Amino acid sequence: MASSLGLFLSSLLLLISLSHSQTSFRPDALVLPVRKDASTLQYVTRINQRTPQVSVDLVVHLGGQYLWVDCENNYVSSTYRPVNCRTAQCSLAQYTGCGDCSNGPRPGCNRNTCGVSPDNPFTRTATGGELAQDVVTVQSTDGSTPGRSVTVPRFIFTCAPTFLVQGLASGATGLAGLGRARIGVPSQFSSAFSFGRRFAICLSSSTSANGVILFGDGPYTLLPNIEISQSLRYTPLFINPVSTASAYLTGEPSTEYFIRVNTIRVNNNPIAINTTLLTIDSEGNGGTKVSTVNPYTLMESSIYQTFTTAYIREAAARNISRVAGVAPFDVCFSSTNVFGTRVGPAVPFIDLVLQGQNAVWTITGSNSMVQVNDNTLCLGFLDGGLNPRTSIVIGGKQLEDNLLQFDLASSRLGFSSTLLGRQTTCANFNFTSSA
Ligand SMILES: *[C@@H]1O[C@H](CO)[C@@H](O)[C@H](O)[C@H]1NC(C)=O
Ligand SMILES: *[C@@H]1O[C@H](CO)[C@@H](O)[C@H](O)[C@H]1NC(C)=O
Ligand SMILES: *[C@@H]1O[C@H](CO)[C@@H](O)[C@H](O)[C@H]1NC(C)=O
Repeated sequence: MASSLGLFLSSLLLLISLSHSQTSFRPDALVLPVRKDASTLQYVTRINQRTPQVSVDLVVHLGGQYLWVDCENNYVSSTYRPVNCRTAQCSLAQYTGCGDCSNGPRPGCNRNTCGVSPDNPFTRTATGGELAQDVVTVQSTDGSTPGRSVTVPRFIFTCAPTFLVQGLASGATGLAGLGRARIGVPSQFSSAFSFGRRFAICLSSSTSANGVILFGDGPYTLLPNIEISQSLRYTPLFINPVSTASAYLTGEPSTEYFIRVNTIRVNNNPIAINTTLLTIDSEGNGGTKVSTVNPYTLMESSIYQTFTTAYIREAAARNISRVAGVAPFDVCFSSTNVFGTRVGPAVPFIDLVLQGQNAVWTITGSNSMVQVNDNTLCLGFLDGGLNPRTSIVIGGKQLEDNLLQFDLASSRLGFSSTLLGRQTTCANFNFTSSA
């Protein structure tokens, strides 16, 4: 009796789970590995998609609108469904129109489908693509190790043509957009499993050990049992009213993550910056964003000049002498008088003084210096030119071994500054599954 009731209940649960967008196990958080590609310096994650399931490598675009993959080359899946025009899913996307592809039907080419504009931010190319849904499987986590796999049966993504993957790390067939769009990866995972609309990235500085992306609330625990979420500092996220994508509709805001830098200090001394450049104007120009597209931080020319002048002066005061630049860097130093510390080469610290109380992001030698050869260290910041769209773009080198939590629900960024001082790194997530 008890067992037939159990059987009845479990088949009922099975029916419920088949008819809903999640299984009865509801995870509090999900985890994805992320590796640094040595030749492009892009960050690449891996998801499982389709039926039968295949693993798909995707370049991480922190501010990207959504997930897109190449559907033209070898996309085989019995669970692929195009999103039709005038549907709820289509309105969630910033769709550009209804598509009618006549060479189909096949993934990426169907009639009466929702058309969007997938974007490759590395080549600044955008094209047309079909909005679609398919099964995505990822591992859940308790914040310290991966747990059992969970499935989103109808994950929304965009089908792109093969040419759009040009410029992506070898093996990657698409992009994982972690931006604040409603069909962005974080929002879809949050709504599929009803957890908080927040995620954390922790990028490894090593090309041989994975970093981690965690969706949902903390804890965020790295070996040896160091919990990071309790010690973050916070600064508000700002919305740029004008899209920063390669193609967009008028009136569409940017899905990228903007923060407010109020001052930059070098060795505790503030530098003089034209403050107009630090705010976003009504046309969407200026301000500061965090990006995984640029490997090194870019600064508008006048900021770059003031910043590097101050840096060279502070380095000289420590007998660190400037040497010829090594492309792409123009400010390089002899490593002769520079000893190593836990937080990287002993060089002047840089502070980004952000909006909010105690919101100081300290950049130590580990994140400011690029070792280009045995005797030379270069300042890993580049001149962003005279009239860039965004005045400061904080790039990958400066994000590595820092944990950043993007909280879309509270519109704030939590940041750790370097984890090296806490005796851990972003390569220290324990990927050994406990499931
Ligand atoms: C500050 O930057 C703004 C925006 O680029 C520019 O219009 C203005 O002339 C600059 N002010 C000074 C004092 O350079
Ligand atoms: C820099 O070098 C000079 C001359 O060798 C020495 O007198 C001074 O103490 C050094 N300063 C620092 C900060 O190491
Ligand atoms: C990593 O996690 C696994 C599974 O939970 C556990 O058995 C192992 O001890 C952990 N490794 C370390 C170094 O703590």
